[in-house]
Amino acid sequence: MPLLEVNDLTVRFDTSGGAVHAVSGVTYNLEPGETLGVVGESGSGKSVHVLSMLGLIPRPPGRIVRGSVMFEGRDLLKLRERELRDIRGKRIGVIFQDPMTSLNPVLTVESQIAEAITSHGLMSKKAARARAVELLDLVGIPEPAKRVKQYPHQFSGGMRQRAMIAIGVACEPKLLIADEPTTALDVTVQAQILDLMKDLKKKLGMAMIWITHDMGVVAGIADTVQVMYGGRIMERGPARALFQDTRSAYTWGLLRSLPDHSEGRTYETHTPGQVKRRPRLQQIGGAPPDMTNPPPGDPFAPRNPFATERCMVEVPPLVQARDAAPGHLVAAWYDLPTALAANPNGVMPKGEAA
Ligand SMILES: Nc1ncnc2c1ncn2[C@@H]1O[C@H](COP(=O)(O)OP(=O)(O)O)[C@@H](O)[C@H]1O
Ligand SMILES: [Mg+2]
Repeated sequence: MPLLEVNDLTVRFDTSGGAVHAVSGVTYNLEPGETLGVVGESGSGKSVHVLSMLGLIPRPPGRIVRGSVMFEGRDLLKLRERELRDIRGKRIGVIFQDPMTSLNPVLTVESQIAEAITSHGLMSKKAARARAVELLDLVGIPEPAKRVKQYPHQFSGGMRQRAMIAIGVACEPKLLIADEPTTALDVTVQAQILDLMKDLKKKLGMAMIWITHDMGVVAGIADTVQVMYGGRIMERGPARALFQDTRSAYTWGLLRSLPDHSEGRTYETHTPGQVKRRPRLQQIGGAPPDMTNPPPGDPFAPRNPFATERCMVEVPPLVQARDAAPGHLVAAWYDLPTALAANPNGVMPKGEAA
């Protein structure tokens, strides 16, 4: 049975400029122990989609228009705040973007980790303090018994992130949601944190949703990759299939914008017609859509060199891609391998703004 079943999740924000279509029809399952990487440019709905399942979007202006999110037999969207608060941190661990704003500067690391445990009534205060030391050790902080007595400002950026992870996994959740947790860190520390997460995942047997705008991070950690744009899932599939047999023009654009080597990894993106080594970073032309007035069809169509007339007027459903790995889904009216054979560099047709 899936751990999480997201069905038709649709979220809007009512603003003075109109309703922002932040998340539209997001549907997927997450299996126990699976790591899902969610990627997409800023504003694509990555954060809102998880915040809304956790009851963490401000309402108003936020509004869940429709959908359901089943977790351990209950629809998270129908729970009361009190019930959600108990699930958050206990059954679903959360790690946010900026550790400086998430750790309380006036409390010791020990009291913050202990609080995460005792607030769910899982242990006595004394046991939770002992557990805090074990958790700091688990996340690779040296001299944990000494460090646990310190305040966040006495930790380096990487260590604060490790402390945040310790809080996220303190109750051994079944699911850990991490929203751009390594974005503020330098590349070396980021790589260390990713290794730590892979290790922790194995030890604790939890599933993860890892949100990032960085394809390199996703390539290093995810079993399944989900690419979002304009509040919708554009492509989803086993990581290897998605990188090597890309089917969405948006994913293709993201991959093409990567340098050949990032964090010492090589990106193998041999979709038909793609050259293996790229001397320069290619940016995706055009700007993201105005989500108060989303395009009527495929949200990426205005920036897509392979768009057909149908793409402009009708939203494509997310379906199994033709002749692709099982579970490799794409939302596209065009067939990318065919389109790339005719236009290998993705040149915008004349007269289109790119
Ligand atoms: N509180 C809010 N009020 C109005 N619009 C919001 C609010 N939070 C997010 N949005 C909008 O929702 C869309 C999706 O945002 P978000 O999920 O944060 O993107 P991502 O995490 O992919 O960068 C964006 O257009 C963003 O401007
Ligand atoms: Mg975000």
